[in-house]
Amino acid sequence: MNIHIKNNVYWVGKIDWELRKFHGDEYSTHKGSTYNSYLIKEEKSVLIDTVWKPFAKEFVDNLRNEIDLKKIDCIIANHAEVDHSGALPELMSHIPNIPIYCTANGVKSLRGHYHKDWDFRVVKTGDKLNLGSKELIFIEAPMLHWPDNMMCYLTAENILFSNDAFGQHYASEYLFNDLVDQNELFIECMKYYANILTPFSSLVLKKINEVLSFNLPVDHICTSHGVIWRKDPTQIVNKYLEWADNYKENQITIVYDTMWESTRQMAEYIAHGIRQADDTINVKLYNLSKSDKNDVILDIFKSNGILIGSPTINKGILTSIAGFIEEMRGLNFKNKKASSFGSYGWSGESVKMLNESLRHAGFVVIGEGIRVLWNPDHDAISECIEFGKNFVSNIN
Ligand code: FEO
Repeated sequence: MNIHIKNNVYWVGKIDWELRKFHGDEYSTHKGSTYNSYLIKEEKSVLIDTVWKPFAKEFVDNLRNEIDLKKIDCIIANHAEVDHSGALPELMSHIPNIPIYCTANGVKSLRGHYHKDWDFRVVKTGDKLNLGSKELIFIEAPMLHWPDNMMCYLTAENILFSNDAFGQHYASEYLFNDLVDQNELFIECMKYYANILTPFSSLVLKKINEVLSFNLPVDHICTSHGVIWRKDPTQIVNKYLEWADNYKENQITIVYDTMWESTRQMAEYIAHGIRQADDTINVKLYNLSKSDKNDVILDIFKSNGILIGSPTINKGILTSIAGFIEEMRGLNFKNKKASSFGSYGWSGESVKMLNESLRHAGFVVIGEGIRVLWNPDHDAISECIEFGKNFVSNIN
């Protein structure tokens, strides 16, 4: 089913209510997602992006309800990742000679994915495509979040087709930002930013400022996932400016794994210490093995400081925690304080290793961390509470 956006612009994408994992199993999508594709029917008809491969046939059948495929003049591939290009082979099997506009890196990615010699037309920032009385202006956005990414802007309608930027994994029958639950929407927007765009924050700031310098009026931001921003569309741009600038709230997140509950008890007593030191701090605790890692990353993103705990096992740390620190290293968080804790029975290497890994992951490590032999006794409980208090005094 297609949705009318404005004048000659239509949404022809796919709502994927069932999606629970994205990027393979890498990203949790509790609220599903959408793959947004757009059809502009001016004197020339243009299709912007497609949908993920499993929906290719459904997409093409549906597109036929909106337009005779042979009347499409060209395709814009804003991004080659398969959630947006996956239906291209099916579509191109019907209209093989149609030009595909994309960046130079887009050609490499699309050829690399599909091994087809389609009629690629390479565009750069500022290039224009005449649709009759209106134009599409191209804006390259390399590494937001792949080398090939670009956006395009439709003059007269004042629509920015932003692709992944400003999107979120959020399925909705209603498609427009003003028609959905605002709390759900912004949680998904921030989770998307935290888990996907954090490593590219400096480029996000640069690109937004570049686009703002063009002084183009923007009435709609048509993303490639989730809602179309039509009510106060700059609100999500302002959020991105905030999130890209070493975002943090008054929050400490404690992430641990535990074998026989000793490290769990440490985590909980440390949390008590944080509360006793400053009860305005939002404290979050996660046993990583029982939690969704992308949700935990969202809380790390929001945190001023983090505490990571693991007992010692085989002279090291639990692999759940090791993998999570690697995830955080890749995301390249900036200006966040960290420390570590863990129980042990004999050798007790975990805390030292955690601190080294956290330093390597880019965190500012405070102190030596805290170790507890076997289960915490009365003195060890007091030390954990003090440790929490001291951590607060070091991050304020
Ligand atoms: Fe939604 Fe980078 O693909």
